[in-house]
Amino acid sequence: MARKIILDLDTGIDDALALAYALGSPDLELLAVTGTYGNVTVEQGVANTLSLLDLLARPDIPVYAGPGHASDRQGFEVLEISRFIHGGNGIGNVDVARSSRGVQAGSAVDFLIGAVASHGDDLVIVSTGPSTTVAQAMKQSEDFAHNARIVFMGGALTVPGNVTPWSEANVHQDPPASDYMLRQSRDISMVGLDVTLQTLLTTEHTATWRGLGTAAGRTYADMLDYYIDAYAVTAPYLGGCGLHDPLAVAAAEDDSIITWLPHAMKVDVEGPTRGRTIGDETQMGPSRRSRVAVGVDAERFVARLMERMATALA
Ligand code: BDR
Ligand code: CA
Repeated sequence: MARKIILDLDTGIDDALALAYALGSPDLELLAVTGTYGNVTVEQGVANTLSLLDLLARPDIPVYAGPGHASDRQGFEVLEISRFIHGGNGIGNVDVARSSRGVQAGSAVDFLIGAVASHGDDLVIVSTGPSTTVAQAMKQSEDFAHNARIVFMGGALTVPGNVTPWSEANVHQDPPASDYMLRQSRDISMVGLDVTLQTLLTTEHTATWRGLGTAAGRTYADMLDYYIDAYAVTAPYLGGCGLHDPLAVAAAEDDSIITWLPHAMKVDVEGPTRGRTIGDETQMGPSRRSRVAVGVDAERFVARLMERMATALA
């Protein structure tokens, strides 16, 4: 039976890839998308998600909007580095027809709480943006905090951050929210830069999508080529773009592609290391599942990604 998932996205080029991966997987059933701020504003992020769902012929998937800014801030401005990596519209400045659909009534936070109450262990929430929405749901509902299974793309344990030397972009947006989520969750898997920068895509891969001759194939190839060009400037030593968000979805689909380190985690919330993800010295016991991805079978993952994409973009 396919595993039920909900994606919490700040759509975002690699979020767009995570969305297509989930839709192309025979082993996943995407119940809904919740949208957050991060790579773009929450309004732009949910508009991108709705447009991409139309493009991928899945206008049936509901989309909910979450909070528009960090839990300890009053507003939000897109970072210069996000604009550079994802383009002004978040999807590589590629034009995708605006959806005639709107977001669902009701908040993403309430929706997530209800979804975990209904589906319990059968559901995995994959968070690939700031942790604000998930942390808020945990604060609002003890049942949610106890029962939610979360795979979180964010953080960096064994490598430096990508916004500051300490801090990865998703955690950087709202360190107290990521800290709360990592400390309180009963079942959390962190998929950070330690592994996502080991999984790369090049223009050879995107050429095969363009070769499909579909609007979706062309659009995704254009978006990813923009992203690959940005990586050639920010991280030329990699030789491609990092596959952050789709790797988190793949880990939720089949956790055997990852080597996991069981470890309780926390986030530094003040001082020069604000945003650093590090082991939590106060929770060393095995009372819950908290683990960090420290290795990945990159070849198996990229092959699987290409299969899932071929299905989603057909
Ligand atoms: C993460 O930050 C965002 O820019 C990407 O979409 C990804 O979720 C990588 O650090
Ligand atoms: Ca993201």
